[in-house]
Amino acid sequence: MPDKIAQIGRQAALAAGAVMRQNYQQPHQITMKGAIDPVTETDFQCQDIIIGMIRRVFPDHGFLAEERAGEGNTGQPPSAVPEISYPGLAWEADPLRPACRWIIDPLDGTVNFAHGYPAFCVSIACEIDGVLTYGVVYDPLRDELFEARKGGGASLNGTPVRVSETAQMSRALIATGFPYDIRERVPETLARLGRLLGMVQGMRRGGSAALDLCYVACGRLDGFFEENLKPWDTAAGLLIVTEAGGKVTTFEGGDYDLYYPNILASNRVLHRELSVLV
Ligand code: IPD
Ligand code: CA
Ligand code: CA
Repeated sequence: MPDKIAQIGRQAALAAGAVMRQNYQQPHQITMKGAIDPVTETDFQCQDIIIGMIRRVFPDHGFLAEERAGEGNTGQPPSAVPEISYPGLAWEADPLRPACRWIIDPLDGTVNFAHGYPAFCVSIACEIDGVLTYGVVYDPLRDELFEARKGGGASLNGTPVRVSETAQMSRALIATGFPYDIRERVPETLARLGRLLGMVQGMRRGGSAALDLCYVACGRLDGFFEENLKPWDTAAGLLIVTEAGGKVTTFEGGDYDLYYPNILASNRVLHRELSVLV
């Protein structure tokens, strides 16, 4: 099964990526989910394609996918919402079967995509019995496919990747992101940026958390942090970073889980220093 999961996950990511490539310079139908939180026709189209492809092969798997809000997928911990977050599925119906759940961000970087800014991707992860087992992130414009399997390392287009060895903050390139509720967090966000800007070589805000995590995994970035991400933003990237030798915790350095409201990822070497600054 793990091979089949990787094969289908990869195919679904490539298929969604092809749709993004086709649509991204066209006019978009944009709906606002919040004051600064858009969704386009392509987000929905990609999610339908991904779920359709996976369901055809694995009809009893569950899904936690970003779009279709109002159908249970708020990104809250499982105790707070029904586990089955996509209609019509019987996840965990058979207690003897491993419970497989796919966690999908069909288009990560929607603001970039909607503006024609070329930095976005699709992010798909698969959990078996609650353990992240496979993750894939595909950047369709650069044709870069990041993948990881639990215990099997991380790769970029099939070549193994490792985190950087940067050991000095003054040589570190660190990324962050601003969540859609940023307007409620401006003072503490600026204070955090202020602390970091005095220490690091450079800071970036790429606009796709999944890609940010992959860039930590392959050493393009030395660290990444953000508040209030959702499981679909981080699931695949989390596995990719850790399998590439990186470290992922909460801002305070505690164990990170997909429902935690902040995330700090690094090349491991700089982790302690970063966790003091964020
Ligand atoms: C967003 C991106 C962005 C991050 C936001 C996310 P979306 O995801 O990952 O980089 O800063 O917090 O919500 O909405 O484009 O899928
Ligand atoms: Ca996202
Ligand atoms: Ca998204």
